[in-house]
Amino acid sequence: MRVILYAGKGGVGKTSVAAATALHSAEFGYKTLIMSLDIAHNLSDIFDVKKSLLDFGEGKPLRILQNLWIQELDMHRELQRNWKEVHGYLSMLLNTTGFNNVLAEELAILPGMEEVSALLWINRYVRHGSFDVIVLDCAPTGEAIRFISVPKALEWYVKKIFNLERNILRVARPIAKRVSDVPLPDERYFENIQELFDKLQGVDEILTDSDLTSVRLVANPERIVLKETLRAFMYFNLYEINIDAIVLNKMIPTFVGDTYFDQWKKMQAYYVDQAKRYFDPVPLFTITLSDREIIGPERLEELGKNLFGEEVDPTRVFHKGRPFEFIKKGETTVIKIAIPFVEKEDVEVYSLGDELVLKVGVLRRNIPLPRSAVSSEIRAHLRDGTLEIELGGGTNYEPEQPSEK
Ligand SMILES: Nc1ncnc2c1ncn2[C@@H]1O[C@H](COP(=O)(O)OP(=O)(O)OP(=O)(O)O)[C@@H](O)[C@H]1O
Ligand SMILES: [Mg+2]
Repeated sequence: MRVILYAGKGGVGKTSVAAATALHSAEFGYKTLIMSLDIAHNLSDIFDVKKSLLDFGEGKPLRILQNLWIQELDMHRELQRNWKEVHGYLSMLLNTTGFNNVLAEELAILPGMEEVSALLWINRYVRHGSFDVIVLDCAPTGEAIRFISVPKALEWYVKKIFNLERNILRVARPIAKRVSDVPLPDERYFENIQELFDKLQGVDEILTDSDLTSVRLVANPERIVLKETLRAFMYFNLYEINIDAIVLNKMIPTFVGDTYFDQWKKMQAYYVDQAKRYFDPVPLFTITLSDREIIGPERLEELGKNLFGEEVDPTRVFHKGRPFEFIKKGETTVIKIAIPFVEKEDVEVYSLGDELVLKVGVLRRNIPLPRSAVSSEIRAHLRDGTLEIELGGGTNYEPEQPSEK
């Protein structure tokens, strides 16, 4: 079984490449599902399937070929299915604070709900072995990151805050009712969250299992796109999700004779070269710009072949890396984390209770500490794209010297 995520900046070709991979995988004989995590779904357009057919499927997988299913999540159905009490409470809250009904309903869809809904499906499919391959067409980078950070964030919330909040409310609800007319969430709200949390159990292991899950970053050979891809690369590393390929899409073919595109070609060659150096040893694939947009199975097939070649199994794990390492050296524990392309100023490390908090830019990751390392001194060094965090012990640990390259 394989779960393959395609992520990248808006418009680079994620959906096209994901769809081409899914089609190719189905042709290889794998029972394949392609699922779209983008609310602006367009799988049906790309496969040239009537939207009404998908609506008829009520947000469940729709079989479109022998071995191929597509699924576009229907958020309103997902709300009913998974978030009934939470959504109900939030819209009531917004409603009593002055928003009209319709607006309150819309605003009560919290960021993260879509991601959790998709994760619930994935968890179920992997557990039941419903498909051989699940290809995920992610929303543009920012949201894709949220997708992978949701299980850890929810776990943190449920373990650290949830019970406290629930217990305080049990005691305070009757008093609060007398002094304020802002409604407080009732028990069903908490039951709903607990239920979701229970159903999400194990999804984190699915995402971080490098034999099972990989993310492939799609980019174009252009400066701004590459820059965002570098950040995404670092974030996925931070969440221990294996990146097994980089796909550079929309290469202008060299046989285009017109000199008009010469500058483009030169620039693209330069960025392909840059990307090779940046992402090494993760393999880099390139796709040439087709002479028309990618709509329908024929174009997708062409794109798939363009990408992997006819013989290569598109579901292979093309690369496995270890972004995280715990090393015990005497009294000292060293955590090594690959966070390439990050400046020292953007990194903050501190301990909080039995956890280490690592902040990189806007992203925050809580790392549970081994008992022996709790409340010990922390020293951190950033070298050659690797963050080394030293915990406890004396001065017996010397960080590795930068290699002489
Ligand atoms: N190799 C290619 N050759 C020609 N056109 C392409 C190629 N790859 C993608 N396209 C076209 O580029 C446009 C954007 O592609 P696509 O929708 O796959 O990108 P996306 O990254 O999923 O975008 P979004 O972030 O909006 O979801 C589409 O019109 C698609 O047909
Ligand atoms: Mg898309």
